[in-house]
Amino acid sequence: MDKGVFISIEGPEGAGKSTIVGMIAEHLEQKGYKIVQTREPGGIDIAEQIRNVILAKENTAMDPRTEALLYAAARRQHLVERVKPALEQGAIVLCDRFIDSSLAYQGYARGLGIDEVYSINEFAIENMMPKLTLYFDIEPEVGLQRINQHKGREVNRLDLEAIDFHRKVREGYIQLSKRFGSRIKTIDASKPVQAVFDDALGIIGKILK
Ligand code: TYD
Repeated sequence: MDKGVFISIEGPEGAGKSTIVGMIAEHLEQKGYKIVQTREPGGIDIAEQIRNVILAKENTAMDPRTEALLYAAARRQHLVERVKPALEQGAIVLCDRFIDSSLAYQGYARGLGIDEVYSINEFAIENMMPKLTLYFDIEPEVGLQRINQHKGREVNRLDLEAIDFHRKVREGYIQLSKRFGSRIKTIDASKPVQAVFDDALGIIGKILK
């Protein structure tokens, strides 16, 4: 049995996930917890290579199932190389994006089916599901506006998708949060940073007790 606690962070681009996760990591570290903050593909060489293929602007011909399989493959590698060892050492692992990204983006928004994408991910992750998932909910328009304010951020292929796609992603996440209500907790990410941080920390605090 793993001693650590696996927590995933989900939501669309511009929801402020990385800012808040950084704040949570710092706060919990100060309280003496061992924290491993990571994101898919998390600097794992093999997973990075897979992700480069997925996100390359020139790969517009990529079939949706190919994309889903590649995400699952990158996830597997990052899980085995980074997440699992950290959990075995008793760390709290804060992972920016995990299975629910695939379920919302590929399963729901791309129309492959949540159950279908779940099944290939089950193969990839072998029951290593997060104990808790924080879903940062925000209207797509607001999220994308925030991104565009960050000059210097690289625009990837998925950023170029129409706003309709981002609306579907949100619908997907909302469906998932209903279906997996005991694992996925929704946070209103349109609030000011401090309020979002307080909400997130409150939820995490409950499972650390
Ligand atoms: P990334 O640069 O990691 O963006 P973010 O900061 O928003 O996490 O790009 C990830 C993109 O890939 C993002 O648009 C979501 C998408 N994605 C999927 O479609 N499926 C997945 O399984 C994952 C992990 C990400």
